[in-house]
Amino acid sequence: MWALFFTVLALIAAAGLSFWQKLLRKRRELDGLVRYCQPPTPILPHPANGPQYKPQPPMGQAIFGHLQHAGELRKLYPPGTHPHAWGTYLRKKYNLGDVFYVDWWPLGPRNLFIADPELASQYVTTGQSLPKSPAVADFLNRFLGVTNMVTLEGQEWKTLRSIFNPGFSAAHLMTLVPYIIDTSLIFCDLMREKARSNELFMLEESTTRLTIDIIGKIVLDADLNSQKRMHPIVDTFRKRITLLPIKTGILPWEDFDLFRPVKLWLNARRLDHLVGLELDRKLEARKAEENSDTKPDEKQTKTRKRAVIDLALDAYHKEISTSGTDKERAAMLSGQGSQAFRRKAIDSFKTFIFAGHDTTSSTICYVLYLLHLDKRAHEKMVDEINDVFGGKDCDTASIAEAMKQDHYIVNKLEYMTAVIKETLRLFPPASTLRFLPEESDPSKIQYFTDPKSGRSYPLSGWQIWPASILIGRNEAFFPEPAAFIPERFIASQTPFPDAKLFTPAGKDAWRPFEKGPRNCIGQELAMIETKVILALIVKEFDFVAEYDGVRLDSWAPIETIDEYADGKPGSERMTLEGHRCFQVLKGAAKPAGAMPGRIYLR
Ligand code: HEM
Repeated sequence: MWALFFTVLALIAAAGLSFWQKLLRKRRELDGLVRYCQPPTPILPHPANGPQYKPQPPMGQAIFGHLQHAGELRKLYPPGTHPHAWGTYLRKKYNLGDVFYVDWWPLGPRNLFIADPELASQYVTTGQSLPKSPAVADFLNRFLGVTNMVTLEGQEWKTLRSIFNPGFSAAHLMTLVPYIIDTSLIFCDLMREKARSNELFMLEESTTRLTIDIIGKIVLDADLNSQKRMHPIVDTFRKRITLLPIKTGILPWEDFDLFRPVKLWLNARRLDHLVGLELDRKLEARKAEENSDTKPDEKQTKTRKRAVIDLALDAYHKEISTSGTDKERAAMLSGQGSQAFRRKAIDSFKTFIFAGHDTTSSTICYVLYLLHLDKRAHEKMVDEINDVFGGKDCDTASIAEAMKQDHYIVNKLEYMTAVIKETLRLFPPASTLRFLPEESDPSKIQYFTDPKSGRSYPLSGWQIWPASILIGRNEAFFPEPAAFIPERFIASQTPFPDAKLFTPAGKDAWRPFEKGPRNCIGQELAMIETKVILALIVKEFDFVAEYDGVRLDSWAPIETIDEYADGKPGSERMTLEGHRCFQVLKGAAKPAGAMPGRIYLR
């Protein structure tokens, strides 16, 4: 009995000691002292940096790292704010430069923030592409399945990405523009009804159903039609999103639900079953077509629209024929090859819905919200639509027809593209989180050096966050960073011709879709569909956001450092950069309250 007691006590003491040592080691790194290893090796600062350089916010009690700042940030920002906004405030408040460390261990991650686009591309996403953060991978693997494209690594990711790349190419997506138009016209009808009834509704709810329907049609050739009716795939998927823990990454017990794993598992079974049925329908139709005696004539083949999954299957078969094993080739010939593909395709379809629906739907919401606040931009966009689509008399029907005739016509909408880019700069729905494990052998620690300062920074042991929102607030590239100025993206119209955006260093400064080999596979789709939808609605409608009975008719841009200078709690202020519809963390970064408001005919 006593022996057991002392054994347990010894184990607890050992665990406590190990935790304490780990804590000291991590804090010493940050305190600019020496790494807890032999021989002692400076981590921060690196020999190149000089002894006093500490790219981090100040620590009160070194042992607590930067946890005090987490407390301050949670107080200042409105509840639920997406933590990707935090870096901008810290950088300004403590004059931290373009690279800085924030250590929330053991309650949260140890983050390395990068606000410089060249460093981000060279060392994190493109020159070298670091592995995705395990925090994101664990979560998405449970949410989407282990063969989801966002978190797969190595050869498995490469193969999957190459299979789906052809379907998501701009050239192929252009052939599917008519589908996007038809689905968007349903959205227009629904908006007309809402304008007539003057009802208060959640815009993001409507745009989400629209974008899911588009993904269903483009990827799987499935008519989900969830804008008009309940669809089991969409409802099960949306239920799954509500099961996500709503946490900021600082307090692991936040929004704790003991039964969440079971609920997620049950939901996954149903979702996989439903997506599987839809996929089987598609595979059966394809097989029937392949076996049919009556081959489609050449003209039919040319005009026939092929879903992303068709091109993926072609690529998969090609891949197996050229580099598959004998077993895989035999399975393919016997028809079971498609079955092997099935698991990957189910996870991929869920991934495309997950990664593609609320990112695009939030973007559409924010564009409409901003256009109401900036009448000049709205008018300018309408003028451009008139110019491109045949004059002042063009209406939704004729614009739709023109786009069906010439799928590439949307590429002429230069100002609209700038509006979308500026919206994505201000409200990026996603970003990338990378990670390099801690190294106990100092010779293996990976550093990178900023050529501008000659300073070196360790990467190993940190979650690396070149957050698009932070880079998008870097004034060297984007002067007046809180303001909505679409012209900044058009060289001939920009009020900031000297901004670094127009130098080679600015090439990767706008990065809502990220850069490098792990950039967004759906970026062309997102841009095409957003343009098609906007071309159809901005001339006819005006959306006015409305929170707690207050219409949002005006807004004055303000940077968080000034906005939060009075220290008032975010729960009382409820704005971020002056926006009541600040971004909350719910899968993607989405408008708070799903953007309630009313839509009006112009
Ligand atoms: C405005 C809309 C969108 C934005 C801002 C956006 C943004 C991003 C970002 C930042 C990443 C990198 C994520 C990471 O590194 O962890 C990403 C990856 C990805 N996105 Fe998007 N996305 C959008 C729309 C879409 C759409 C429409 C789809 C598909 C239908 C899609 C599918 C994916 C996939 C599969 C990946 C992982 C790619 C890989 O790792 O190879 N996204 N997206």
